[in-house]
Amino acid sequence: MKKKVLSFILAATMMTAMVAGCGNSGNTKTDEPATNTQDEKEDAADDKEDAAGDETDAASGDLSTKKVGVCIYQFSDNFMTLFRTELENYLVEKGFSKENITIVDGANDQPTQTGQIDNFINDKVDVLIVNPVNSSSAETITDKVVEAGIPLVYINREPDADEEKRWEDNGWDVTYVGCDARQSGTFQGELIKDLGMDKVDLNGDGKIQYIMIEGDPENVDAQYRTEFSVKALTDAGIEVEELDDQVGNWQQDQAQQLVANALGQHGEKIEVVFCNNDAMALGALQAIQSAGRTVGEDIFLVGVDALSEALENVINGTMTGTVFNDHFAQSHSAADAAIKFLTGEKNDYYIGCDYVKVTSENAQEVLDMVK
Ligand code: GAL
Repeated sequence: MKKKVLSFILAATMMTAMVAGCGNSGNTKTDEPATNTQDEKEDAADDKEDAAGDETDAASGDLSTKKVGVCIYQFSDNFMTLFRTELENYLVEKGFSKENITIVDGANDQPTQTGQIDNFINDKVDVLIVNPVNSSSAETITDKVVEAGIPLVYINREPDADEEKRWEDNGWDVTYVGCDARQSGTFQGELIKDLGMDKVDLNGDGKIQYIMIEGDPENVDAQYRTEFSVKALTDAGIEVEELDDQVGNWQQDQAQQLVANALGQHGEKIEVVFCNNDAMALGALQAIQSAGRTVGEDIFLVGVDALSEALENVINGTMTGTVFNDHFAQSHSAADAAIKFLTGEKNDYYIGCDYVKVTSENAQEVLDMVK
């Protein structure tokens, strides 16, 4: 039911379709066990038979015996909680057994996550889905997972272009699923631009004074949203002045403190608060309200993700707008890509999706869908 509404909204807003199945050669490396004794030889033969059986199961659509390892960079992240919950539900819907899906918390620590990946490799999972703590660790992760002959689907934190090119050049069973963060930044800027200068330029100096609260700066989502939200204004010929730019690491409490400080320092000069995600926008809203300011009247506030609480704020006017980060499409595409690898098909090396701009006009519709 949710999926139907979702398809409807996306059909109305989508500019590009997901492309899949363009690779031309596979990762055929297998992990052969050493066979020193007769028993070990027999075990190895049994393993081979099991593997052959598994392939037949997968090809015939029986995924119930397949083991899936999922690494999430940090369980306490609101958006990734929505993502992993939907991912698990969808994998089960597609025929995987719940007990064969293991989802682990990287606790925002790359060495912890690397250890979890090593454990999954030792456990011989059939496919890995990884939301890296540091995208810059992707090369190391890819090397060890490919070496073990396990297909790999990266999600949410995009490795750099050189890394993606390596998958393609080598024909590896590795892909990335995510949305283009530039689009979310552009939508944030447009949410402000569309209000009109008369409304936003509260001090009438012909410029928009803003503060920026960034997510984890290592993350391309944070970099692009920071850049493209402002670019949407300057591209429209609007002059801007940045009063502050701080890192809130995607977290509500950090953003609340940062925005409280900025309001203390710059006071009424702040016209717009850009937050790279909704969790931080919710923190910003607490600070804005404590400072006696009113969103929509004497300050404007935008986020990204379309968390339920943020959507309720958009409906009530206590947030100017947000951008729907489609965790349904992303988790489903990640699972579908994993299934294709398991059934011997190829995937494109980048599988995209679209963001949706959310204002008070469509916030209820999006809320009905995500709730
Ligand atoms: C972004 C999302 C943030 C945070 C981040 C983690 O796409 O908007 O809220 O979850 O991913 O990498």
